Amino acid sequence: MLVDSVNPGPVPGRIEHPALAAAAAAIGRMLVLGGGYTGRRVALALEAAGVPVVLTHRQPSPGGHDPGWLPFDPDRGVLPSQADLAGVSHVLVTIPPDAGGRDPVLESLGPLLHRLAPAWVGYLSTTGVYGDTGGAWVDETSPTRPLLERSLARMACEQAWRRSGLPVQLLRLPAIYGPGRNPMVSLRNGTARLIHKPGQVFSRVHVDDIVGAVLHGIALPPRARPDTLILADTFPCPSSEIMGLAAHLLGCKLPEMQRYADIAATMGPMARSFWSENRRASSRRLTDDLGYRLLYPTYREGLPTCSGDFF
Ligand SMILES: NC(=O)c1ccc[n+]([C@@H]2O[C@H](COP(=O)([O-])OP(=O)(O)OC[C@H]3O[C@@H](n4cnc5c(N)ncnc54)[C@H](OP(=O)(O)O)[C@@H]3O)[C@@H](O)[C@H]2O)c1
Repeated sequence: MLVDSVNPGPVPGRIEHPALAAAAAAIGRMLVLGGGYTGRRVALALEAAGVPVVLTHRQPSPGGHDPGWLPFDPDRGVLPSQADLAGVSHVLVTIPPDAGGRDPVLESLGPLLHRLAPAWVGYLSTTGVYGDTGGAWVDETSPTRPLLERSLARMACEQAWRRSGLPVQLLRLPAIYGPGRNPMVSLRNGTARLIHKPGQVFSRVHVDDIVGAVLHGIALPPRARPDTLILADTFPCPSSEIMGLAAHLLGCKLPEMQRYADIAATMGPMARSFWSENRRASSRRLTDDLGYRLLYPTYREGLPTCSGDFF
């Protein structure tokens, strides 16, 4: 294995970002709703900068360190009290629509969030709301044409957040990758598939660029924050391309190439739905208009940092 060629990347929780100090100074207490992959990464970065953080989970994570863990499980009526959230000034929502397509946070915590009067609420959404563009670029001005059921639910949740009267910024994401969630993981565990579908590309974003963009957004003056922002790297490409670099970094063989048309019928509905849409997501508003400098402009810089564990 050519593991020497894999850069271990920045130490999680110690993100070196120009906006970190300004964001940390602006935040009194950060509430991150949903301590999953991205939520935990944001929480750890802020905690490492000395920011008081509350991070919700339905269950305590096994063995892991969770900054300011607070149980939040609206399906089971487990909700934080106002006292639990005293002093919260900024909120990041990473929780997707529930099984009924509604927003579990707004439905259960809407009035409490209003009473907290946060300065900023970031809502992690998806570029799936743009639907299928046949590979054409989308930006924040593009029409939303969600096709998949989960994207229709997402759109409804976005609209509910917009109507909430809270200072919400919608952050639309393509596929998230980073340590523990990337093609090197599937190559290592033998689940990788090398699939070719002519003309198909995927956009992606490194999890630490979500962290960076969140910090950058918080550090901006409120009037400079657009209400919708796409967070993506600059290089949408076929999944086979990133798989090629992953195999090179690991020094292992690629699986045999399969034609999408030959295997589509054998794929699960979720996997097939990913391949049913083709679009390129542009983050020029973030980079050119707001001056955010991507830590990982393409997978070529990002993937070599992903060899370690999640945290
Ligand atoms: N993954 C991607 O490639 C991708 C792409 C575009 C958009 N997004 C969206 O971006 C956001 C963050 O993604 P992620 O991959 O970091 O998410 P993730 O790892 O799946 O984490 C989601 C978090 O939400 C919590 N959660 C889910 N449903 C909940 C409910 N009904 N009530 C309370 N908590 C609930 C989970 O709680 P537990 O910790 O208790 O399980 C988890 O902490 C999500 O909204 C996701 O849909 C993801």
